[in-house]
Amino acid sequence: MRYNISRLFALLGIASTAHAVTLTVSTAQGNATSPILYGLLYEDVYHSGDGGLYSELIQNRAFQGTSVFNNQGPYQTLQYWHTRGSDTLTLDNQAPLLTSALPWQMRVDVANGATGATGFWNEGYAGMNITTATRYAANFYLRGNYKGQILAAFWSNTTNSMLGSTTFQVDQTEANGWVPYAQTFTTQFSAPDEKNTFHLTFDGASTAGQSLRFQMISVFQQTYKNSNNGLRMDLAEALNELGGKFLRFPGGNNLEGIASPYRWKWNETIGPIINRPGRPGTWGYVNTDGLGLLEMMQWCIDMNLEPLLAVWGGLYLDGEIISEADIGAYVEDVLNELEFLLGPSTSHWGSVRASLGYPNPFTINYIEISNEDFLNGGIPSYVGYRFNAFHDAIKNAYPNMKIISSIWSGYFTNPSMPAGVIQDLHDYLSVDDMVSKFNGYDHAPRNQPVLVGEYAAIYDAEHTNPNQLDNPTLQSATSEAVYFLGLERNSDVIVGICHGALIKSLHDEPDNVAIIKHTPNALVRSMSYYVSKLFFTNVGTQTAAVSGNVGYGPLYWSATKNDAGTYFVKIVNYNGAASTPVTVVIPGKTGVATLKTVTAPDQYSTNSLGNTQSVWTETQSFSHYEN
Ligand SMILES: *[C@@H]1O[C@H](CO)[C@@H](O)[C@H](O)[C@H]1NC(C)=O
Ligand SMILES: *[C@@H]1O[C@H](CO)[C@@H](O)[C@H](O)[C@H]1NC(C)=O
Ligand SMILES: *[C@@H]1O[C@H](CO)[C@@H](O)[C@H](O)[C@H]1NC(C)=O
Ligand SMILES: *[C@@H]1O[C@H](CO)[C@@H](O)[C@H](O)[C@H]1NC(C)=O
Repeated sequence: MRYNISRLFALLGIASTAHAVTLTVSTAQGNATSPILYGLLYEDVYHSGDGGLYSELIQNRAFQGTSVFNNQGPYQTLQYWHTRGSDTLTLDNQAPLLTSALPWQMRVDVANGATGATGFWNEGYAGMNITTATRYAANFYLRGNYKGQILAAFWSNTTNSMLGSTTFQVDQTEANGWVPYAQTFTTQFSAPDEKNTFHLTFDGASTAGQSLRFQMISVFQQTYKNSNNGLRMDLAEALNELGGKFLRFPGGNNLEGIASPYRWKWNETIGPIINRPGRPGTWGYVNTDGLGLLEMMQWCIDMNLEPLLAVWGGLYLDGEIISEADIGAYVEDVLNELEFLLGPSTSHWGSVRASLGYPNPFTINYIEISNEDFLNGGIPSYVGYRFNAFHDAIKNAYPNMKIISSIWSGYFTNPSMPAGVIQDLHDYLSVDDMVSKFNGYDHAPRNQPVLVGEYAAIYDAEHTNPNQLDNPTLQSATSEAVYFLGLERNSDVIVGICHGALIKSLHDEPDNVAIIKHTPNALVRSMSYYVSKLFFTNVGTQTAAVSGNVGYGPLYWSATKNDAGTYFVKIVNYNGAASTPVTVVIPGKTGVATLKTVTAPDQYSTNSLGNTQSVWTETQSFSHYEN
């Protein structure tokens, strides 16, 4: 069969003499491709989780803090909360606390002589998505003397009007301690934009001169698959549509922690959200840990993703390293985490999991020991004892577990690295360096599997180190596509590939690349998103060799095929002429071909809010095709 393909992934307006290109795909047996070749990395960075994928609308809902700067606490604050009038808001830690995990609450002192509605409001994460098309769940805890109503309402800044509300009936005294309130509601109006706020108001006259205390004030919009404490719908749907096969989590540098004791502690991310203390995260803000270990496992279930779980390995980002004498307690902590996930419900931690709604053990096949342990002087201790301490204990308990080293051997030589250990390589490169990696694995040792746990094209001719690209361009996305080709045709040694920045808030600085960017009420699928989707959703189970009548550049290619005999021939045009005719020959093959392309007007085209410049096409039935 011959297919004439005249429109390629990237149609770039650079004049050159176009030679007719013929690619011949071998039908001989290839190498098996990794069954989880393309996947996703999740860590809470740039409000990918809190204020992003995690569907909570209230920012600083339990007064755990907001920003983190040079690890200079204390972190607790009333930021994002404002009084509505005749009351004063104060951080307060007077007992009884709601839980020991949440030591700070908000005390609302109502002025003497107050009348009418009084109360406070929250800004959200730079606003909120308020529409009549969804259902909201409002929750809070109250301590104090009050008999009357509390009104929970969304307001639009833009129209200065109430969009919808729900009323709570309250009848309690200080002696009742903390009383929970929960109600779902819909709004009467949709907001014209994202500039919306959430208000709680109560009667000033009957509380004048008194104090009420509030804790864990939470509002969720309806979540993906209606999960409890779950994912924001539009972002989750966009992720699901990408078609990845694995989820690497919970980091990323956010696993490691800025300094002791702020590592990601799995046991403090489970159970009711009022039992989760949160922690100062690595990326400039306090994490609620609402999107915790079980929520990430549920995410894997909901999107059919293989979990690649990273566990804490003894290095804080400030360079503090757990000594060999003390590492045992941390190894034990990881074994507890694995018992929690994988143990029978009769085991200690397995029973905790069961009590949280997951009676059946999960399946986990891949564990990465920490993240980027080459940072901050981590190599000698990682190679010397840290890696082996975790590796040996995990292998002893779970002999079939595939273990991932967070250091790629290009950075060091570890003669004692056990056979079969997967090495995690991170590539943040310029567009040309991305492309130069096309044949980077052709001669790699075949007994040393590699995970590309983070990659991104972050520099181009106009954005050079240290000033990164702010948004993927057609050029940067096609450079990533060439990089994919190199990995795909070597996918006997490449276990998986995932981008370094999956989700980012458009309200966060610095402005740099991500697969998806979001505001409270919109999202942008980047140029890299569409290239990723094209690759993720079109990959076979074995490689197929391709020979061309010309050399590589500006066109690059590779092919895979699946057991049903479908061939996936990928061709990338990196900075080449806009229209190079290509003929693909698959000897003896008959059937229908589908041409899928991603293109854009020029190499610097980007997708931004309200302006999608990438074009996705799918066409069948070619005019020139003969057996
Ligand atoms: C299979 O892998 C070997 C290296 O182990 C490589 O030489 C060969 O080209 C690969 N074949 C295909 C079809 O990818
Ligand atoms: C709404 O207006 C208030 C000032 O009244 C401001 O503090 C807040 O940030 C605004 N919220 C949004 C989302 O614009
Ligand atoms: C979580 O486990 C760590 C030990 O790794 C322990 O120090 C901490 O107290 C535990 N947190 C809770 C809330 O039990
Ligand atoms: C806003 O809510 C509506 C209704 O649930 C939903 O369709 C839309 O995707 C939401 N947008 C965002 C950005 O969450």
